[in-house]
Formats: sequence, structure tokens, C-alpha cells
Amino acid sequence: MLDVSSRYLTLAKQLEAILDKDLPYISNLANFSALMWLELEEINWVGCYLANQSKSQLFLGPFQGKPACTTIQVGKGVCGSAYEQQQTLRVENVHEFPGHIACDSASESEIVVPLYLNNELFGVIDIDSPRLNRFDSSDQIGIEYLVKVLENKLSDVHF
Ligand code: SME
Repeated sequence: MLDVSSRYLTLAKQLEAILDKDLPYISNLANFSALMWLELEEINWVGCYLANQSKSQLFLGPFQGKPACTTIQVGKGVCGSAYEQQQTLRVENVHEFPGHIACDSASESEIVVPLYLNNELFGVIDIDSPRLNRFDSSDQIGIEYLVKVLENKLSDVHF
């Protein structure tokens, strides 16, 4: 396993403590965003975009930060590209990413991690920063680990 820094391991423990498998996924996504918003430095947006049934569009899910665009076409922007390519996209300078969708003009760098529910691609986690090159490879490893912790607690139970 790639080395997860102690910073992110501590955060993962906090996350484990607030997530609950018996809740609908929307509740866990909401608290995931809230914890990231509180604990990660130099970010101006964190949240998720979730795929529609036909997997052609992503819809805004629980988040923290300024109101954001509500739909993103799969393949468009950083979020739609990460979803389509099924891989993390770490963007050092969003102004250099072709087709970047600017929801908050303060954003300078961004990381988007695919999100799975029951082993099926379900959406993405998106984190924006007002600082260029905010996310390095160690942040990527840490954030991907946090998303794995989240996925292990996500369930599609409904009430
Ligand atoms: N920048 C994203 C859009 C979502 S906002 O950052 C919240 C993108 O290019 O897909």
C-alpha cells in the first residue's frame, strides 16, 4: 500500500468515527464534506457530484463552500473528465485545464477523485483550493485513502 501520511491517517480516524453504514449515503456524504471543510487547510470548496441513471450527467451533491453549478456533462470539466476516465485528476492550475468549469473564481487548483458505491462508479469527490498547486502527490494518496474510508461506509439504504 502507498504510504498515507500521519496527517491523513488521523483524519481517516475522525472520518470513521462520524460515518455510519446504517444511514442513507446522502448523510455520510454530507458529513464527509463538513469534516473536510473543517480540517483541510487552504480549500474553498469540497463536495461531490453524483451520476444520473444513464450516467451521462453529474448532479451536485452535498458540499461546503459557495453555491456551485448543479449539473456537469460526463467528459466535461475536471469532474466530468475524472468520472469518464475513472481516475483521480490533480490539477495544479485550473486555468490551464482545457474546459475547466469555474464555479468559484477564487479556485486556482483542484483535485477530483472517482467515487464508487457497491463497486460501481457513482460520482466524484471534488476539492478546490484558492492556492496554485495546493495538492501534491502525498495529498492525492491521503485524499484517495479518505475516499476509500468513505466508500466502505456508503450504503444505498433508503428510508
Ligand atoms: N471545477 C469543476 C466544477 C465544479 S466546481 O469546482 C465546484 C470542474 O471543472 O469540473
